[in-house]
Amino acid sequence: MNANPIIELQQITKSYRIGTDRYLALKGIDLRINSNEFIAITGPSGSGKSTLMNILGCLSQPDSGHYRLGDNDVASASEDDLAGYRNRSIGFIFQSFNLFAQLTVLDNVIYPLKFRWGQTQAQRKAKALQVLASVGLSDKINNLPNQLSGGQRQRVAIARALVTEPEILLGDEPTGNLDSNTTDEIMALFRQLHANGQTIVLVTHEPEIAAQCQRELRLVDGQIVQDRRREGAQFAPVSPAFRAKAQQEIAC
Ligand SMILES: Nc1ncnc2c1ncn2[C@@H]1O[C@H](COP(=O)(O)OP(=O)(O)OP(=O)(O)O)[C@@H](O)[C@H]1O
Ligand SMILES: [Mg+2]
Repeated sequence: MNANPIIELQQITKSYRIGTDRYLALKGIDLRINSNEFIAITGPSGSGKSTLMNILGCLSQPDSGHYRLGDNDVASASEDDLAGYRNRSIGFIFQSFNLFAQLTVLDNVIYPLKFRWGQTQAQRKAKALQVLASVGLSDKINNLPNQLSGGQRQRVAIARALVTEPEILLGDEPTGNLDSNTTDEIMALFRQLHANGQTIVLVTHEPEIAAQCQRELRLVDGQIVQDRRREGAQFAPVSPAFRAKAQQEIAC
């Protein structure tokens, strides 16, 4: 097995304040994520999946425990450091896409690069165009998000998450708002990214999606109760039209 952990969690806990009480949402999570793993996080509603993803994505801090991301100690980082880790190391995709409604597809994808020093606007644009081509959206770069289908919106969000070349791509139910054909297309894209070396962690309720990942972590009541690996992931069918279009655009 690849012994190159890019993330290591030790005894992570997280609680939320409810009135004068605290609710313990994560009860001591231990987890190593190696480079180029493709992981599904499953579990019942309320089991702590989003809480865990938000900590992995440096969107929130644990109450206690250790979180090492590359060489960085995240659990004790300042807000500024967290923002830096998010921009440099993490690509985050949400169920509801979270695109900037008033920006074009191209400007949505360029946006994270604005926080990078030492790149000209032309270099940023070239990089954004390259990533948009890789997700099959070269013909939509001037559209606004509301002029796209759900699957296209999610592909913009994936392009925006990838444009900074993050070490890890995190998706909290990224296909939760999509129909089954569009889900197949987005999963085909994740598999292709994984085949190209991307480390990916997805939260999902759907067993067919978890079956396409190499490893499944099951959370129940704030604890990992199962951590299993699949030898060969079962791939859902990809529509021929999408495959042809993606291959054509990648070839450009
Ligand atoms: N901001 C908050 N304040 C108080 N409690 C919260 C807050 N966010 C989450 N919780 C509680 O923490 C627990 C875990 O929530 P979380 O959102 O991580 O679950 P989940 O596994 O992602 O669920 P779902 O599948 O419904 O998205 C739940 O019991 C939830 O009610
Ligand atoms: Mg959730």
